[in-house]
Amino acid sequence: MTAMAKFLRSAGTETRTMKRLRLGLAAAAVLGCAASFGAVAQEEGATFVPKIPERQSWSFAGPFGIYDTAQLQRGYKIYREICSNCHSMEDMHFRNLTDPGGPEFTEGQVQALAAEFKVTDGPDDNGKMFKRPGRPADPFPKPFPNVQMAKLANGGGVPPDMSVLAKARSYEPYDWFPADIGYALWSMLTQYQTQGPDYISALLQGYTKPPAGFKIEPGQNFNEVFAAGNGIIAMPPPLQDGVVEYPKGPDGKPVVPETVQQYSRDVAAFLMWVAEPKLDERKRIGLEVMIFLLVAAGLAFFVKKKVWAEAHA
Ligand code: HEC
Repeated sequence: MTAMAKFLRSAGTETRTMKRLRLGLAAAAVLGCAASFGAVAQEEGATFVPKIPERQSWSFAGPFGIYDTAQLQRGYKIYREICSNCHSMEDMHFRNLTDPGGPEFTEGQVQALAAEFKVTDGPDDNGKMFKRPGRPADPFPKPFPNVQMAKLANGGGVPPDMSVLAKARSYEPYDWFPADIGYALWSMLTQYQTQGPDYISALLQGYTKPPAGFKIEPGQNFNEVFAAGNGIIAMPPPLQDGVVEYPKGPDGKPVVPETVQQYSRDVAAFLMWVAEPKLDERKRIGLEVMIFLLVAAGLAFFVKKKVWAEAHA
């Protein structure tokens, strides 16, 4: 009996020692991992660590968010006057600018906006292609006829088409967690869907001085947000304070500031609409369906109560 108790006690101590050993090993492993992460961060720190865009507030964020028409109109102006010189927007037609839930220009305004562009049409009776002013039914014309020309004009970079750019760009919210898992979890838990405009607006404001010793080839630019190019981007800073004139209020001053920050936000909002023109409608229908389901669930509850009340009696 005593031998048995001794054995049991010794077995107990054995397990406890082993437990301690295991804990020790686990702690060592965690510390080791942390140390190696630290080393990576340091290595990157010597060259380039991209800035993570800030989460901004947008009128169209969240389940009830909708676009701000005036902001979309300003954003269009920036696209028209600046971005459209290099970036195409192939899926968008001029007439879309009148759509409800968009910039909601009037038909007359859109006719005038379309006519500012020259589009290629034809062939004519002589078999030749010709240029004519744009019409509302035309798609937005491309600034470059092909990728090769675009590359040649942009120091080897190709300005991406803007039709879905706001949905195709994002950022990793963390720099310390495995990126893919972290991003998937983050957007799943928070339902946060405006990383695209956050990223675009941060990118447009991300032209800063490169860190000391950072090499930039001629024709290239440094951008602290441009993780994909390790800080080197072919797009020159497209915006400067005051380059685009904004509508004036009654006091003769612009309704919103004519600054790079404001321009960046407005054009990012516009590009979000371009990528998701039915957002307002989608959210409205979603809300209607939720209300319908609630009412239907309420009715079903009372019906059930009634039916089963009779069965009990
Ligand atoms: C002078 C030509 C030019 C103009 C004007 C221009 N871009 Fe670009 N843009 C480029 C080029 C070239 C690239 C590709 C950069 C690269 O891959 O290095 C690019 C890339 C981008 C990207 C994608 C970055 C990424 O993550 O891949 C965004 C977003 C963008 N531009 C937004 C804009 C906006 C908004 C405007 C107008 C305010 C604008 N650009 C005006 C040439 C231009």
